Amino acid sequence: MTKLLSGKIALITGASRGIGRAIALELASRGADIMVNFARNEEAALSAKNEVESLGRKASLFQGNVGDPKIIDDLVMATISIFGGVDILVHNAAIGAFKPVHKLKINQWDLSMDVNTKAFYLLAQKALPSMEQRGGGSMMTISSLGARRFIPDYGAIGISKAALETLVRYLAVELASKKIRVNCVSGGLVETDAVKSFPQYESFKNEVVKRTPAGRIGKPEDIAKVVGFLASPESEWIVGQTIVADGGLSLI
Ligand SMILES: NC(=O)c1ccc[n+]([C@@H]2O[C@H](COP(=O)([O-])OP(=O)(O)OC[C@H]3O[C@@H](n4cnc5c(N)ncnc54)[C@H](OP(=O)(O)O)[C@@H]3O)[C@@H](O)[C@H]2O)c1
Repeated sequence: MTKLLSGKIALITGASRGIGRAIALELASRGADIMVNFARNEEAALSAKNEVESLGRKASLFQGNVGDPKIIDDLVMATISIFGGVDILVHNAAIGAFKPVHKLKINQWDLSMDVNTKAFYLLAQKALPSMEQRGGGSMMTISSLGARRFIPDYGAIGISKAALETLVRYLAVELASKKIRVNCVSGGLVETDAVKSFPQYESFKNEVVKRTPAGRIGKPEDIAKVVGFLASPESEWIVGQTIVADGGLSLI
């Protein structure tokens, strides 16, 4: 059976671990070849590449900090030269200092804005000509509930994600006529390495489980499945949205 993303090329930032890795496997299982970007963890990146290949798809690795605009140029150009283009862009990599906003240093503010937000605007600009040439595409990014509500010590990331969700809406309107859809998936707490560094993680997690109608915290695959749907033609009428996948946490 032909898979919905057969012949498509996906570039995913931060695809070595956590949610990005699950997205790589979800898109590969739907037929896409994958450019796996990562920052430092080469071992994890190699294992993500092997897992994509074990699903019968091609994968390539690109190490680099997407907070650096020069790296973004190189990442998109490498994807085009290795695979022939870009059909699906997923900006998943994110970083941030955990502290109150009124204690943030300027470099900590800049770090989150550069990696979490500015990178998506630059990636979108850089991938656009290839998507246009290929007759359309899908751009997606990952946000979190902290974009819309207060989470203690999460301001640096939350503020950058709020800007990211707005960036999605602007790009979506500007690019819709080119058959390029731009969307976002927002999650509640998802069990990955990143959250294990939260202050008092275990008690925070227990509290979130208690408050989540679905009775557990998220798995990377919960987010990846929504990305898989948004990357596929089944979701063609979804344009510029932030889809919340959080087991109902944000309803309470
Ligand atoms: N976990 C949650 O509870 C949760 C909830 C909602 C939304 N999200 C969002 O989901 C996304 C992924 O989060 P996660 O929990 O899966 O994170 P994670 O487990 O910490 O993984 C982060 C990934 O991003 C890469 N990365 C980090 N900084 C980078 C940079 N500057 N340039 C390129 N790659 C970089 C890492 O590469 P290395 O392996 O080389 O370090 C790794 O592959 C983020 O946007 C996050 O805000 C997470």
